[in-house]
Amino acid sequence: MKKELRRAVIAGNWKMNNTPSQAKALIEEMKPLVKDADCDVVLCVPFIDIPAAVEAAKGSNIKIGAENIHFKASGAYTGEISADMLKEAGVEYVVVGHSERRQYFAETDQTVNLRTLAAVNAGLKAIVCVGETLEQRELGYTETLLKYQTKMALTNVTKEQLKNIIIAYEPVWAIGTGVTATADQADEGNGFCRAAIAEAYGEDVAQTVTVQYGGSMNAKNAEELVAKVNVDGGLIGGASLKAEDFSIIVKAASK
Ligand code: 13P
Repeated sequence: MKKELRRAVIAGNWKMNNTPSQAKALIEEMKPLVKDADCDVVLCVPFIDIPAAVEAAKGSNIKIGAENIHFKASGAYTGEISADMLKEAGVEYVVVGHSERRQYFAETDQTVNLRTLAAVNAGLKAIVCVGETLEQRELGYTETLLKYQTKMALTNVTKEQLKNIIIAYEPVWAIGTGVTATADQADEGNGFCRAAIAEAYGEDVAQTVTVQYGGSMNAKNAEELVAKVNVDGGLIGGASLKAEDFSIIVKAASK
């Protein structure tokens, strides 16, 4: 295991929180707290917040991401946002296939793959989410499912494009529930994702891919989680809405 080959990425996923003015205020508060980070710091924000967030983050080490992307370049897709729109707005990262989108917005492994391709083909960095439900875990399907979701999401992604892919292992049962995976469960889940990448692209390549953990990561448990060999940072929901908590997680990943 070669953790030193990978840069840790701490990414906030604000979900459906913060108006543009709140986004600006929160980023202004975060900037001095995360300025010395020795990891990549990303905030994935609602589409409508992107201009305010990009403006507020200018000149800082905070990069702005979106929470979704459509797979077509343009056309009659009411309510959707394309890669070009995100690029022109100054977005560098995009969350793809979050379990909330799979659960509430009928995302499938196929659409997750298409969205991933749209992102990397446009030069955006895709944070691709995978994760099992509690039922799937209890049935013993975690490894099979994580490998399947990871490989499906990466279908037709080239080795070169893989440099712009981050995998986020987010057990569905740990999201927003306050129930965090243990550090060993996170390490194991992340390891399954990395093993799937190794099966598809080779072990050397798999060792270079950043695999985050997400699911009730917070200021208290971050240090133990990110210390694990397979955990290269985190995708943070609730705790990314509080500047101080988020900065503590960034500091934990910078050690
Ligand atoms: P919480 O950190 O609120 O559990 O959310 C995790 C998540 O879904 C990040 O994408």
